[in-house]
Amino acid sequence: MEKELIKLAMEMRKKAYCPYSGYSVGAALLAESGKIYTGCNVENASYGVTNCAERTAVFKAVSEGERRFTMIAIAGGTEGSASFAWPCGVCRQVLREFCDPAQMKVIVCRSEDDYKSFTLEELLPESFGPDFRD
Ligand code: THU
Repeated sequence: MEKELIKLAMEMRKKAYCPYSGYSVGAALLAESGKIYTGCNVENASYGVTNCAERTAVFKAVSEGERRFTMIAIAGGTEGSASFAWPCGVCRQVLREFCDPAQMKVIVCRSEDDYKSFTLEELLPESFGPDFRD
């Protein structure tokens, strides 16, 4: 499953709309249902409106009825190169809403064979989430 998500994340980079940064990101997100949702970054002439690849994938999935996720693979880089694309703080918090941080796997990859794997808890320790609501 890891490899499948990595392959899809790398493929999704091609769909990125990133004329301002030139940095394309692709993401593939696995829901507890077993379905995979993909995303890419979508930039805007008003730079701050940009949506990251990870959030594109989460919002697509949640809008289809999904609420729990177990793994995400992220691939990014400037044209012709691949670097480890670390999820930004906002995306880490958005993922936090819909998973168990100790179980959720976050994979950053440069190729199918060159990747690093973390839990969300490692990337967002001592986090605030929906379990704190009351
Ligand atoms: N980007 C993502 O898609 N995901 C991240 O977690 C970090 C940054 C995008 C946003 C912007 O389009 C480009 O990368 C450069 O910041």
